[in-house]
Amino acid sequence: MRNILLFSALAFLTAVSAQGKPEWADLGTYTQAFIANKTFPGAQLAVVSSGNKVRYAGVFGSLTFQGDQFYDNVTPDTIYDIASLSKVVAATSCTMKLYEQGLINLDDKWVKYVPQANNNGKDAITIRHLLLHSAGFAPDYPFYDVYANVTKEILLNWLYTTTLDYAPGTATVYSDNSMVALQLVIEKVTGKSMWSYAEQEIFLPLGMNTTRFLPAPWDKCAPTLTGYPHWRNEIIRCAVHDPTAFILGGVSGNAGVFTNHADLILFMTMMLQKGAYTTPDGRQKRMYQEATVTLFTTAPSGLPYANTRALGWDTIPSQKAPCPCGQDFTPGQSFGHTGYTGTTLWGDFKQDVAFIALTNRVWPDDGVSVPTKNRILWYRNNLANMIVERIKATSQESLFMQ
Ligand SMILES: *[C@@H]1O[C@H](CO)[C@@H](O)[C@H](O)[C@H]1NC(C)=O
Ligand SMILES: *[C@@H]1O[C@H](CO)[C@@H](O)[C@H](O)[C@H]1NC(C)=O
Ligand SMILES: *[C@@H]1O[C@H](CO)[C@@H](O)[C@H](O)[C@H]1NC(C)=O
Repeated sequence: MRNILLFSALAFLTAVSAQGKPEWADLGTYTQAFIANKTFPGAQLAVVSSGNKVRYAGVFGSLTFQGDQFYDNVTPDTIYDIASLSKVVAATSCTMKLYEQGLINLDDKWVKYVPQANNNGKDAITIRHLLLHSAGFAPDYPFYDVYANVTKEILLNWLYTTTLDYAPGTATVYSDNSMVALQLVIEKVTGKSMWSYAEQEIFLPLGMNTTRFLPAPWDKCAPTLTGYPHWRNEIIRCAVHDPTAFILGGVSGNAGVFTNHADLILFMTMMLQKGAYTTPDGRQKRMYQEATVTLFTTAPSGLPYANTRALGWDTIPSQKAPCPCGQDFTPGQSFGHTGYTGTTLWGDFKQDVAFIALTNRVWPDDGVSVPTKNRILWYRNNLANMIVERIKATSQESLFMQ
């Protein structure tokens, strides 16, 4: 009954917006409805355009549900476990730096940097394959039910010795292993942990002060799990939710970054401006050449298999419905990624807009008591549609004002 009422309220609101003026504040009302039906306990949202223009930003709901432990308001300082957004914010961004500095070549063999993996056909894997998720790796380490006994050494040794599911460059299978493999390259070339390299080259220059692996301020993190799956047997707060990243000690190419919407506003503005950014003290600088951003955010054509993936970044998927970027992001001009914990980044160069949506939809038990996976897909999809609608309305407005 409550859900039906909420849904009607939302339908009413959307109808009004469609006829009248779509307001940015509608994004908040929309988000609150998903909080009310327990899709997630809270959220941070932001919409940006180039020129450091924040079109909309808001924080909603709470860290956990009413009656749960750690029940407290989400604030602008709340820190989210962004899960697979780490693949773009950290691993891909570091790779873009190394590529631009000429320290790696995209067609370098992976085993050039990780010689202990030179077996079972893995000598055919290139860095480009890792970025395109076409290296042949299985999606994940075969955890089955043995989480508790898997160490970093066991997991890496499996990666070095595993057989591939398909020949490199002949198919695409989204794989956490590809991003762990990429992390090994980054760490070999730089002689540093991927975290310290990302901090030095990306996070600190952009002024992303909160962004880090292994976050310290426990009270600021939105918790992700109460102890399920059982093998961790503890509340998961300020510790990475992802099992691979957890086993690797929290710093991983596939997951492990914690951040907030304010920091991701800085990051997505830089991406939308194809590498140009304003330093914290107001200077205009470049993080990447324009061509590098274009290369990593464009799905290459002419591959021997159907592909919509760019390098590290994703683009509009051809089939997967509902699309995280809705129906109105520009084909060939938009890029993004999603994270399992309920996080999304998507940008559109042509329409000059990017959005950030952070939630902890996995609280309290990874969608067991309330299945949230399907719900977050529709949340993102419609959110993206509402954002484009409002961007269009805003440009109409400025047209009239001229
Ligand atoms: C949760 O609420 C949103 C917004 O009203 C609605 O679209 C969605 O269908 C609801 N989901 C469920 C399972 O109630
Ligand atoms: C982990 O190893 C211990 C000791 O070898 C064994 O008793 C236990 O069953 C293992 N746990 C799992 C989940 O495999
Ligand atoms: C982030 O760090 C920069 C440089 O140290 C500082 O100027 C800025 O005020 C910091 N921002 C926040 C939000 O703490």
